[in-house]
Amino acid sequence: MSFSRQIKIAPSILSADFANFGAEIRAIEAEGCDWVHVDVMDGHFVPNLTFGPPLVKAIRPHIKTVMDVHLMIAPVDPYIEAYADAGADILTAHLEAGPHIHRTLQAIRGAGCKAGLALNPGTGLDDVGHLLDMIDLVCVMTVNPGYGGQKFIHSQIEKVRSLRAMIGDRPIHIEIDGGITPETAPLMAAAGADVLVAGSAVFKGGSVENPAPYGDNIRAIRAAAEAA
Ligand code: DX5
Ligand code: ZN
Repeated sequence: MSFSRQIKIAPSILSADFANFGAEIRAIEAEGCDWVHVDVMDGHFVPNLTFGPPLVKAIRPHIKTVMDVHLMIAPVDPYIEAYADAGADILTAHLEAGPHIHRTLQAIRGAGCKAGLALNPGTGLDDVGHLLDMIDLVCVMTVNPGYGGQKFIHSQIEKVRSLRAMIGDRPIHIEIDGGITPETAPLMAAAGADVLVAGSAVFKGGSVENPAPYGDNIRAIRAAAEAA
């Protein structure tokens, strides 16, 4: 995984056919996605419940690009080793998930993964400065985490702009997660984001039998972001 600020599209498989993960992943990769985003939810930190480590491990061999695992769980530390063993390239934990985010990020890198720090829409950047040396990615949530298909929260544009300035030359990705479409992607690309997570906007209109719309959707988001 070499570092670049080029726009990367990371479809969230939260919007895929849950009975067909292998085929869905092969389809979005064949249609040109850059990373595959896996939303882990625990029914506690967020109101929804999704993928445990065995499921993440089962889909890993189908991913040829980058497995980007977003942990919306609390506590997070007891599960880091299991998701690292499941094959995550990037493990992202929430700043709000507990009192010891510094320890969590150390543990993620210690387990051999790139470390991501996710921020809920209501969380500011004040604490991020202390963590810049230990992270490879900041995930700015542009919806309240828990569900796909929610409306983009515009107040996060300013946060991304400030974060981009704070990061400077450091090799840290800025990832945006929630409500990304060809309309909202350019706002975030212009503010400094380089990884765009999109669930509903990638999977809409397509299926494993008819994957061409996935490609159209990925290209539309990428073109809009690159034109920004
Ligand atoms: C939200 C998840 C997102 C989400 C994206 O809790 O972290 O990855 O599923 O879905 P869309 O693109 O539909 O907002
Ligand atoms: Zn996510």
